[in-house]
This record gives sequence, C-alpha cells and structure tokens, in this order.
Amino acid sequence: MNTERRRLLLIDQDVVMISELKQKLAESEHLAVCGEVQRSDDLLQAIQRGQPEVVMVGSLTDVDLGFLCQQIRFFYPQIVCIAACSVRESHWEPFLRNLGVWVISKPVQAAQLEMMAVHLSRNHDLTGQPSLPSTPTLGQQAAGSWGTIDQGMPATLPPKPSKEKHLITVYGPKGGVGKTFLSRELAIFFSLQKVNGRRLKVLAVDFNLDLGTIATSLNLARRPNLYNWVQNIDEQLIEMVKKEGRDPTEVAHGEWQEYSALLRLSPEDVEQYVVTHPESGLHVLTSPRDIRHSFEIKDYHLYIILETLKQSEYDVILIDTAPDTTDATIQALFFAERVVMVGNPVVDAIENIQRMLKLLREADYPEERIEICMNRLQRKEMFTLEEIRAYFQLHPGKELYTIPDDAEVKRTINTGIPLLLASGRSAAREAVAELGRSLIPSLAERQDERVEGKSRKPKERSFLFKLFQR
Ligand SMILES: Nc1ncnc2c1ncn2[C@@H]1O[C@H](COP(=O)(O)OP(=O)(O)OP(=O)(O)O)[C@@H](O)[C@H]1O
Ligand SMILES: [Mg+2]
Repeated sequence: MNTERRRLLLIDQDVVMISELKQKLAESEHLAVCGEVQRSDDLLQAIQRGQPEVVMVGSLTDVDLGFLCQQIRFFYPQIVCIAACSVRESHWEPFLRNLGVWVISKPVQAAQLEMMAVHLSRNHDLTGQPSLPSTPTLGQQAAGSWGTIDQGMPATLPPKPSKEKHLITVYGPKGGVGKTFLSRELAIFFSLQKVNGRRLKVLAVDFNLDLGTIATSLNLARRPNLYNWVQNIDEQLIEMVKKEGRDPTEVAHGEWQEYSALLRLSPEDVEQYVVTHPESGLHVLTSPRDIRHSFEIKDYHLYIILETLKQSEYDVILIDTAPDTTDATIQALFFAERVVMVGNPVVDAIENIQRMLKLLREADYPEERIEICMNRLQRKEMFTLEEIRAYFQLHPGKELYTIPDDAEVKRTINTGIPLLLASGRSAAREAVAELGRSLIPSLAERQDERVEGKSRKPKERSFLFKLFQR
C-alpha cells in the first residue's frame, strides 16, 4: 500500500478554520498541507511553490468559488479539486459536478479530507501515480469525481498551451432561434481567418446530440460522428475493466466514471471522427446518425471528449447546443471561454434568456463570458433594444449583438452553402462577422486577412484570467 502523503493546498479566507485544519492534519499519514491561500492574488504562487496534488477550495472575498474551481480545473487538470461549500454556495454543486470537482459542505472536517486522501491512495495506476477519487463515499455528497489526469506525470504545473485556443459555445434556451445557423456561420468565419499567414484550424462540434443539424446545414455526411468516438472510448473502457478480471455488464455508472478518469486519449484522436467541409477546410464533429445512439452518450464520454478537445490542435472550437439544460449543454457552457446566447426579439425567447441569465447569475457564472445576440431582428420590432437590455439587466457597457432577419438565410440553409461563402447581398453577413470579431478580439488586431469591417478594442480580461495566463 502506498503511504505517500498527498500535498494539500488549503484555500479559504477563514484563517481560523485553516489553522484548525492544519493542526488536525499535522499528524496525518495521508495528507501534508503544502500551503494556504487567503487571497486569489496569492494562488498562482502557492500552486507553483507547493505543487499540490489536492486543493481544497473554500470561500474568498475577491472571487467566486465556482469560477475559482473552474479556473483551477482548466489550468491544472491534474490537481484533484475539492470545493468546500457553505450553505450560501450550495447552488454551485451541479455546476461543480460537471467540472469534475468534489463537493463537501462546510464546516470541513479534517477526517473528510483524510478519507479522500485514503481513497486517492487506493486508486493508483500501475505506475504508482495518483488517480482521481471516484465514488462519493464521504458522507457529504461528492460531486463529479472524474476528469482527465496526466498519468505517469507527477503533480507538476501543466504545460502552457503553445498557442491561443478559443472555446466558444453557442446556446439559446429556446428552439429554432438560430443557434445552428450562427454556429455554422461563425465556424466558417473563423475558418476563413488567417493568422501569421496560416488559416485557423477550426472545429465545429454538434452537442445537440439527438436532433443536431450542423452536418445537414453544411451538406455533410454524418459519418464518422461523435457516436463512433464514444464507441471507441467504450471499447477502451471495457478493455480496462476486463483486464481487472471484471465483467463489464456488472460495472455501475459511477465506476465507469472512475475508469474513464484513468483513460487518456490522444488529442490527435479527434481527427478520426471529424468530417471536413471541403470549401472552407472546417472540421465538423457531427451528432450521431441514429437518434437512439445519442441515448448511449453519457456524461463521462462528454467530459473525456471535451478534455481531449481542449488539448487538441484546433485554434477555435465552436460548440452548437440544444435548447435544454442536459449534461451536454451544461458541460458545453462550462467548458467554453465564450458563450453566445442567442434569442429572437419575441417575448418567449426573451423570457427564456432572462430566466437562464438569472440562473447563471445566481450560480455566479462569470457573465463577462456571455455575449447576447438577438437574431432575426426586423426593421420594426415590438420591443426596442433598450427595453430588451433593461429586461436582461445588462450592464450599460455590455454590447447587445443583433443579426437582421434575412431572407437569404433560409436559402443558405436549404442549399447547405453558408452565408459567408455565398455570393450576393446579405444583411446578416456583416453582422455575423462583427460578432465573430468580438468573440476573438485578437483576430481583428493580428490577422493578415479578414472579413471587412471595423475592428474592436480587446475587452478587459478578468483579473483571474490574467493571473492564470501569466
Ligand atoms: N437571421 C435570420 N434570418 C432569417 N432566417 C433565419 C435567421 N436565423 C435563422 N433563421 C431561420 O430559422 C430557422 C431555425 O434556425 P436554426 O436551425 O439555426 O435554429 P436553432 O436555434 O439551431 O434550432 P434548434 O433549437 O432546433 O436547434 C432556420 O431554418 C433558418 O432559416
Ligand atoms: Mg440547432
């Protein structure tokens, strides 16, 4: 049995709690506190200094718990992240679960952390490296316990991404508002951009798993598709289970999550499952051909896929979603660094955006990630943009993007030729390009060739973003 102590970083503004935990853990056989953080400014240094394998994330005054966990999961996927939530923060739980973060309730007991460490020690792979904890055994309800880890690698800082990568999710909490149309056009817009003389490598992903239509809207076959990738993941998982002498039919969902945490896919794998749009070079990971196949795609498949995409060579990954709040959609929202929230200037679409914004605000989702886009705007609308802004309670500095209603759109959907590649006049084309430039401001500054239009000043990034980008 491995008795090595796991390095634990404690993050919380409550110095009394931290000092009590440190005292109680001083004699621990399983955990060694390697640092403590009371302000987000100190976090990066503490991670670099302490090289933690486990981080307990509590409350800080200057940053939201969910955002902090999300940033740690994004930049340090090999660190096991445990969120310690107060009652006030318990609304974070479903979101944290989707990030692969454990959740425990406050007051935190040293024994809880110890039990987690024991669990970690039990789950070693053959190289003796730690895996993530798996089933919720800790009295408190544990959140998603799965996620990718860098197997065979000690808890060192993850390599910085070698080039800028953009993860954008297009979402709208109502059907038929133009999500797929916008996803397609934005994906084509980015595919046409060049940076340093090189075309951007762009992937459009259809996360509308059962009824997605991205492939159709581009005249592409749905073969191969996302389900083929899922089948391959399952084959690998089944092999792992069999190697342990177990019967795959007896493995529970939670255990599949555990096995999937040990599975590491190569970022190049994705290319086997994409179809290429010949006119633009855009890669598309389409939804399954058969609706029934979508029922077999589980949360852990999606998580592995998203994590693998994050490591892939694509410059821009654009995810189209369904108008729902299923696992696929929520994971796509949390995976994204930018979200385009699409609606129409119709009362039901407006109401649903407002409800979704309310939910995300209550969950402290970083609103600066969200761009709201009202699609199909006609010359004369019942609601003015000012009224819509007021209803959404948008900050005065926040842009509300609009795309005009354009008869060309229907034709381009029917022909499978994107608006941005079609000839002829179109009112919507420039509006889409403007939205694209706002999503990746650096493009407007750096690209050699771009769709005509005015460039924008890059938006001020959040301090945490800067912190982790250092
Ligand atoms: N700017 C526009 N002008 C005119 N028609 C549009 C515009 N945007 C979208 N449409 C039309 O609206 C229809 C629905 O668009 P789309 O399929 O993109 O919606 P969606 O939000 O993806 O739907 P779902 O929720 O079913 O996935 C399309 O057939 C398209 O022709
Ligand atoms: Mg759609």
